[in-house]
Amino acid sequence: MKVVVGITGGIAAYKVPELVRLLKKQGHEVRCAATGHALEFVTRVTLETISGAPLYSDLFASGRTEHISLKDWGEMLVVAPATANIIGKVASGIADDALSTLLLAFSGKPVIMAPAMNCEMWAHPAVQRNIETLKGWGIRMVGPEKGELACGVSGVGRMSEPEAIVAEVNNLSPFSSHLSPQKWLVTAGPTYERIDSVRFIGNYSSGKMGFALAQALADAGAEVELVSGPTSLTIDHPRVHLTRIESAREMYAAVTEVFPRCNGAILSAAVADYRPSECADHKLKKNGSEGMHLDLVQNPDILATLGGMKTDKQTLVGFALETDNEEANAQYKLEKKNLDYIVLNSLRDKGAGFGVDTNKVTVISRDGRHTESPLLSKKEIAQLIINTVTT
Ligand code: C5P
Repeated sequence: MKVVVGITGGIAAYKVPELVRLLKKQGHEVRCAATGHALEFVTRVTLETISGAPLYSDLFASGRTEHISLKDWGEMLVVAPATANIIGKVASGIADDALSTLLLAFSGKPVIMAPAMNCEMWAHPAVQRNIETLKGWGIRMVGPEKGELACGVSGVGRMSEPEAIVAEVNNLSPFSSHLSPQKWLVTAGPTYERIDSVRFIGNYSSGKMGFALAQALADAGAEVELVSGPTSLTIDHPRVHLTRIESAREMYAAVTEVFPRCNGAILSAAVADYRPSECADHKLKKNGSEGMHLDLVQNPDILATLGGMKTDKQTLVGFALETDNEEANAQYKLEKKNLDYIVLNSLRDKGAGFGVDTNKVTVISRDGRHTESPLLSKKEIAQLIINTVTT
C-alpha cells in the first residue's frame, strides 16, 4: 500500500520515524509530508532517510504541483501527530501550507488521523466539534490515549503508539494483512473449577488481554481461534472464531485439538493449576463448626503440552505473571515449557495485570532479546506483542 504520512508540529512527531519504519517493515511504501512546525521536532534528513523518499514540505519549492502528484501517488494518508491546528484547518477547509493543501486534495481515499495535544485542548468544544465533523466525512481517528503528556500533566491527549496506527492502516487496507493466510490460537480469561453445583474456584482474570490479542491478530489478517474461559467480553470479527469453555480441562481439550493446524499460539489465559478432586452434583451443606477440606488435584499444563507438541514451524508464546524474581522465573518457564517467547507482566507495576485496561510488559525471546513496553492500553500492548512475535 502507498501511504503518505503527514506530520504536524507536536512533540509526538518524534515517534514518526518509528511509525514509518514499521509501515515499511510490513511492506508499505511511504512518503512523508510535513508542516513547517513539524520540522522543529523531527528533521528532514531523518524523514527522508527512513522513508527513502524526498520530503514534501514546501508548497512553492519546486514550482510543481506536488500536492497533486502526491495525492495521485498515495492510496492512504495518515496524519500523525494531528494537532488541534491541522484538525481545525481541515474541518474549516483551510489550505495554507503543503500538508493542509494535500489533505483537501486527498479525496475519495482513506485518511487516518492520530490526534495528539494537551488534554485541555483536546476537551475544548471547538476541537471536539471539528473531530465530529472530520469523523462525519469518514476520516478515521486513532486515539488519543490517556496517559502522561509532554506538558507534565496526565490526561487524554497522548498520541497512540505507532503499532496502533499501523494496525489501523492494515485494517483499512484492502490488501492488508501481513499475517494472511496464517491461523493463530489465543487463550483468554480465567478458568472455573467446580466445587459443587453452585460454587467454583476461579481468579480475577478479565480476558481483556487475550481478546485484544485476538483482535490485533485478526486485524493483521490472521484467522484466529480464540478459546476463552468465563468472561462478559464479546468479539465481533469475521476472522475470529470464539470457543467458550469453563474449566482447565475443557480448555486443554479445545486447544490441543486446534493447535496442530495453527502457525502459532499465544496463551494468555489464567488457567487454574488445581481443581477439586471431586465435584458434588448438589449444593454442599454447611457442616457446623468442623470446617471444610477441599481435596485438590493438578490440572494439565496446557502451555507445556503445546511446547511438547510444537513443530519448528510453529511459534509458541506464553505469559508469566510474576510477583518476585520476575525475569529469572520468566526465563525459566520459557525454557522449561519450550516456548519461543514469554510475555512477562509484573504485579509490582501499577496499572498492569488483572481487570485493568492497561498493561506493561517485557517480551523475552528464546534467544534472549528483551522488548520492554511502557504502560500502554491492552490494545497497544497486543499490537506490540504481535509485532514482536510475528517478525
Ligand atoms: O507456570 P505458569 O502458570 O505461571 O505459566 C503461565 C503460562 O502458562 C500462561 O501462558 C498460561 O496461559 C499458561 N498455563 C497453561 N496451563 C496451565 C497453567 C498455565 O496453559 N495449567
